[in-house]
Amino acid sequence: MSTTGKSMTQAEFEQLRTIIYERSGIYFEDNKKYILDSRLMRRLKELDLEGFDQYIALLSMGPFQMDEFQEMFNRITINETSFFRNEIQLDIFEKKILPTLLEKRNATKRLRIWSAASSTGEEPYTLAIMLHRTLGTRLTDWNIEILGTDISEKALTTAQEGKYPEYAFRTTPALVRNRYFRQDGAMWTIDNAIRKMVNFDVLNLKDRMGARRRGTWDIIFCRNVLIYFDDKMKADLSDTFASLIARDGYALVGHSEKLTDTSGTFTSVSSPQAFAYRAPDAVDPTGTDRFSAPRTVASAA
Ligand SMILES: C[S@@+](CC[C@H](N)C(=O)[O-])C[C@H]1O[C@@H](n2cnc3c(N)ncnc32)[C@H](O)[C@@H]1O
Repeated sequence: MSTTGKSMTQAEFEQLRTIIYERSGIYFEDNKKYILDSRLMRRLKELDLEGFDQYIALLSMGPFQMDEFQEMFNRITINETSFFRNEIQLDIFEKKILPTLLEKRNATKRLRIWSAASSTGEEPYTLAIMLHRTLGTRLTDWNIEILGTDISEKALTTAQEGKYPEYAFRTTPALVRNRYFRQDGAMWTIDNAIRKMVNFDVLNLKDRMGARRRGTWDIIFCRNVLIYFDDKMKADLSDTFASLIARDGYALVGHSEKLTDTSGTFTSVSSPQAFAYRAPDAVDPTGTDRFSAPRTVASAA
């Protein structure tokens, strides 16, 4: 194996950035060149390529092109996440938004939740835990679907295994961890009842048809991924969500993100810390009886 890969030139960075953007909507600003360079240099060495020009050629043609895109996204995506990430937002979700929707769905007892960039699974499993503790024994009466999707197949493999290091619980109360996970050496394994509530599937958010094939959703979580997209991708994705959200559904984003749909479907709920949007027929569950959030936050990011 060669260890003499040449580091990425500015022209190669710009070519790769365009290829990545066209495929995924992820836009690498100039100051993020080092991320591509360091993460893909290791791949060049594995493939015994001498430079990024050869890697770009591999991505641009040949029978292994699709596999290499998957491998590349496994390496260049930032999969940072944790259980119960952003406590204030999740409290509003669990205590206001979720009960409102459960009441509205009481006749059909069907609820569909999509975690649209689920990474290694902490977010959709957190939502499953919330449903489990909200519904308790009534859970068996309900048809709850929770889907976690991501562009990174590698992240989803970890999600499906359901085994996590202590670090995944840095924003999680120990009581919750101890109730829903079993310690096995340095790792914690998720309770089977919670694991069975969540399905995972590879989905590139650039793939509008792929998103449509999965139907409509009562709740969409799309947190901490819009920050990697440019304005056009953000607007396109917001429009996709607008077309897939139930008429009384809710969408939740990360603390520094916004939905920018051109259809005017989404309205912000009035509690700013909810980072939530409602579709036209949904009530604002935080509007009248303002939720008073706890002052201590483990992490807002
Ligand atoms: C920082 S993580 C956020 C995880 C979780 N939503 C949270 O807030 O904790 C961002 C995730 O977005 C995924 N991602 C980036 N671009 C994507 C795309 N075009 N389609 C689907 N997932 C994407 C990455 O693979 C990564 O796992």
